[in-house]
Amino acid sequence: MSPDFEGRVRTTGKKLYSLIGGEKPSVFRKEFWAGRTLEWCMRDEGFKTEMFRFVDVFPYLNRPESVVRHMQEYFGRPGLQLPQALRFVLEHAAPESVAARMMAMPITRNIESMARQFIAGADAREALPALERLRARGIAFTVDLLGEAVVSEEEADRHLERNFELLEVLDRAQRSWKPLGGAAGGLDWGWAPRVSLSVKPSALYSQFDPIAFEHSIDRAKERLRPLIRKVIRIGASLTLDMEHRDLKGLTLGLYRSLLEESEFGDYPHTGIALQAYLKESRADLETMIEWARARRRRFTLRLVKGAYWDSEVIWARQRNWPVPVFTRKHATDASFEELTSLSLRNHDFVTHACASHNLRSIAFTMETASELRVPAQRLEYQVLYGMGEPIRNALRKAGLPVRLYVPVGELVPGMAYLVRRLLENTSNESFLTQAFHRGASADEMLRSPAELGSGPGPAAEEGPAGSAGPPSAQAGERAA
Ligand code: FAD
Ligand code: 2OP
Repeated sequence: MSPDFEGRVRTTGKKLYSLIGGEKPSVFRKEFWAGRTLEWCMRDEGFKTEMFRFVDVFPYLNRPESVVRHMQEYFGRPGLQLPQALRFVLEHAAPESVAARMMAMPITRNIESMARQFIAGADAREALPALERLRARGIAFTVDLLGEAVVSEEEADRHLERNFELLEVLDRAQRSWKPLGGAAGGLDWGWAPRVSLSVKPSALYSQFDPIAFEHSIDRAKERLRPLIRKVIRIGASLTLDMEHRDLKGLTLGLYRSLLEESEFGDYPHTGIALQAYLKESRADLETMIEWARARRRRFTLRLVKGAYWDSEVIWARQRNWPVPVFTRKHATDASFEELTSLSLRNHDFVTHACASHNLRSIAFTMETASELRVPAQRLEYQVLYGMGEPIRNALRKAGLPVRLYVPVGELVPGMAYLVRRLLENTSNESFLTQAFHRGASADEMLRSPAELGSGPGPAAEEGPAGSAGPPSAQAGERAA
């Protein structure tokens, strides 16, 4: 990198900051219930814990008295800071009383509206207006049908069917969509399909488990094969999401194994997500690049930091296994930058998607791409629906290709997704919280990970890559 590279990253970051103006992410706006609830969560760790427990069980509470009874159980304990009126009802009202029912109604409405902040609609038809509004503002989308970790084959079949319906609706709609960026032909900006689908592998097979590595891949492929055929038929793109670390080897194995089938080998619009917080991700990306190079084919890398950080840490500690993720935030940020450079250096084989709401990570990506002269069609920027609107608007104003990850589905299958977004938005470490809720300055937020960590790189600091995790998952990865 050129000597003034770091300076240029900060200048670019500042330009992006200036494009934000005074805009705030809607999720932190205190005039809305969601904003106020997140504020309480951030102020009071006890309240946050009870809030997550309550949100987790909420979709199954189908009567007002159950809502109230659970609220009394979770929030009724002494010591929690609650609004006076709420505390009074929790302490004194019987769950069947009129007062309790009157409290249950707005709570139900508010949790549903909090879910709608992050989920565009219950099905494709309901989500379509939101998707078309995005396109009208020059923003592309990828849809994700909520419903990970299916527990039965019937559920996996239904999930697959709903994915087909989703693609049907989008295919019909896309016939009237002009490509973004004024491009000729049917592709956004001249290179990207207008319809894009993201899929969680744990929704493809109810027993998707590294303990039965080959078997899981074979079964998951039986559902993924018809889906990718449909994707190809309608000229869409497909990305496999990355879930918990113990599914990583399977997910990479599934992707490679499917794309090695001659029927799909030439299709250029498929990809996978990798998580920068995993110590093994550098080795995984190198393997993916070697795989693509050997086959002279390309894949899209959606580079994320990772949404399962809390669970990964807790599970590893519970089992006394080495923690597979970095445990200091700057190490994940450093890893994100390292993987960005590796991916962009290999743009002959990798189309890079920078999936981050962090302006430092984004500015680093922009400057690295410019330094390496990465062709425009090899890079896009992605953010999540309902999060960091000022970021996506700034990226648009900067003339960059932006795609939103848009979940579609009901509240029950969407609960795990909602909990991940709430965790992310109440984390002290998050860029969005620091920049927009705590009011940290641009200078602070644009510091390099090295400056923040003021120590050696991530691997040296936190143990060798590839040493973490259960033996079965590691064996699975070797087999992949
Ligand atoms: P930042 O605030 O810069 O980073 C927050 C992240 O840093 C946390 O999410 C965590 O990964 C990491 N972190 C936080 N605390 C620590 C700590 N103490 N030590 C080490 N690391 C820490 N996530 C997935 O897991 N799989 C996916 O398939 C996936 N798909 C996505 C697709 C898109 C388009 C987008 C935008 C996001 C996707 N995500 C996925 C979610 C993504 O992982 C989070 O939104 C992302 O981590 C937030 O990072 P950031 O750069 O926006 O924010
Ligand atoms: C998640 O489901 C966005 O894939 C990411 O949390």
